[in-house]
Amino acid sequence: MTKTSFPRKDIKVLLLEGVSQTAVESFRKAGYTNIEYHEKSLPEAELAKAVSEAHMVGVRSRSYLTADVLNNARRLMAVGCFCIGTNQVDLDTAAINGIPVFNAPYSNTRSVAELVIAESVLLVRRIPEKNMACHRGDWLKSSEGSYELRGKTLGIIGYGHIGTQVGVLAEAMGMHVLYYDIEPKLAMGNAHPADSLGDLLSVSDIVTLHVPQTEQTKWMIGAAELRRMKRGAMLINASRGTVVEIDPLAEALKSGHLSGAAVDVFPKEPKGKDEAFVSALVGLDNVILTPHIGGSTQEAQHNIGLEVSAKLIRYSDNGSTLSSVNFPEVMLPEHPGSSRLLHIHQNRPGVLKQVNDLFAQSDVNVNAQYLRTRGKVGYVVIDVQASETQARELKDKLSAIDGTLKTRLLY
Ligand code: NAI
Repeated sequence: MTKTSFPRKDIKVLLLEGVSQTAVESFRKAGYTNIEYHEKSLPEAELAKAVSEAHMVGVRSRSYLTADVLNNARRLMAVGCFCIGTNQVDLDTAAINGIPVFNAPYSNTRSVAELVIAESVLLVRRIPEKNMACHRGDWLKSSEGSYELRGKTLGIIGYGHIGTQVGVLAEAMGMHVLYYDIEPKLAMGNAHPADSLGDLLSVSDIVTLHVPQTEQTKWMIGAAELRRMKRGAMLINASRGTVVEIDPLAEALKSGHLSGAAVDVFPKEPKGKDEAFVSALVGLDNVILTPHIGGSTQEAQHNIGLEVSAKLIRYSDNGSTLSSVNFPEVMLPEHPGSSRLLHIHQNRPGVLKQVNDLFAQSDVNVNAQYLRTRGKVGYVVIDVQASETQARELKDKLSAIDGTLKTRLLY
C-alpha cells in the first residue's frame, strides 16, 4: 500500500449527520482508523472546532462549512458531501484553501426511477382519487378512466442518468418510450428521440421530467406547454422545483385537461418540519404530493456512503480529484516505483516556473507530471524516481514556493 506523508492512522476523519456506516467501514478497510462519528450535525462553535482538528470531513445538508469555518481549518485536506447538494459548503473558499469538495450526484438514480414507475401505475389507475375517496368513507368502485401502463407512451424530458433508467424500466412494463434532451443521446432499448419538446408533449400519455436546474429549464413547463399535452395526460416532476409552473398545472388538473400529476419538488419547499407546506396543488385528489423524497431510500444512503468515502480515500491515497465540484480535476494512475508529490497552488504566473525550476535543479528523474487549473487554483502532480529522503526534501522545497497552498507526498 502507498505510504502517505502523514500516516493514515493519524489522519483524522470527522463524519457528521449520521452518514451511512458504509462510509465508516470503507475508511477502516483503507487504514483510516482515526474516525470521529456523530449522528447529528454539531452546534456552530463545536462544528468549527471539530473541523479545525480534522483532515477529512463528511457532512450532509445541515452542517454549514462557511468561509470562517474553512479559513480556520488549517489541517483540512478534503470535504465530502454525503448527498447531492453542495450549497452548505463555501466552495470558493474551500478551493482557495486547497480543499477539494466531493459529492454523490448519482447514487440515488435508481430510487428516483422506481418512484416514477410506481407513480405512473398509480396515476393511470386513478388510485390517488380512489384512495382519497376511501379515506372519506366513499367507495369509487369503477373501472372508468383506469388503464394499464402497458402500451402507453411515456415522454421523458432530460435523458440523463435518471431519465435513461426510467426509460429502461418503463419498457419492461411494456410502455413506448420517447425522450427529449438538448444533447444528442444514444437511445436505450427501443426508446426513440422526439423531434422537439412540443412533439413529445403532444403524443405522450405520461410526461416525466428529469432535467437539471438551469436558466434554460426554468419554468420550461408552463401554461402553453401544458396545453400542448394530450387531454387526459399526466405529468410527473421529480427533478427540480423551478421546472414546472405550479399555478397553470393546478388549473390544468382542475379543468380536467390533465387527469393526474405526481410532484416531488416545488418552487418553494419548507426548510424543516416546523414550516408548513403551501402549494396550489394541495387538496387536489388527482395529485400525488411527496416532500422531495424521490432519491431518499436506505439503498441510496448506502451507495452515497460508498461513493463519497471512495472519492475521499482515493484523493488521500492517490491524489485523484476526479468529479470534485470545486477543484481542478486530475485523474491519476497508480504510481508503483515512484514517489508522488502533490502541489496545490495559486493559479497565477510564475508559480509553475518555480516548481519546474526546482525539478530542473534536482538530480531526480521525473516519471510523469499532471497539471490542471480551475479558477484561482492550480494542481500539479509530479511522479519522481527518488529515495524517501530525496522525496521528502523535494516536498519541503515545494512547500516553500511562493503561492503554495498545500503540498503532500505519497510514496
Ligand atoms: P443528469 O445530469 O444525468 O441528466 C440530466 C439530463 O437533462 C442531461 O441528459 C441533460 O443533457 C438534459 N438537459 C439539460 N437541460 C435540458 C433541457 N433544457 N431540455 C432537455 N434536456 C435537458 O441528471 P440526473 O441525475 O438524471 O438528474 C436529473 C434531475 O433529477 C436533476 O435535476 C436532479 O437534481 C434531480 N434529482 C431529484 C431527486 C429527488 O429527490 N427528487 C434525486 C436525484 C436527482
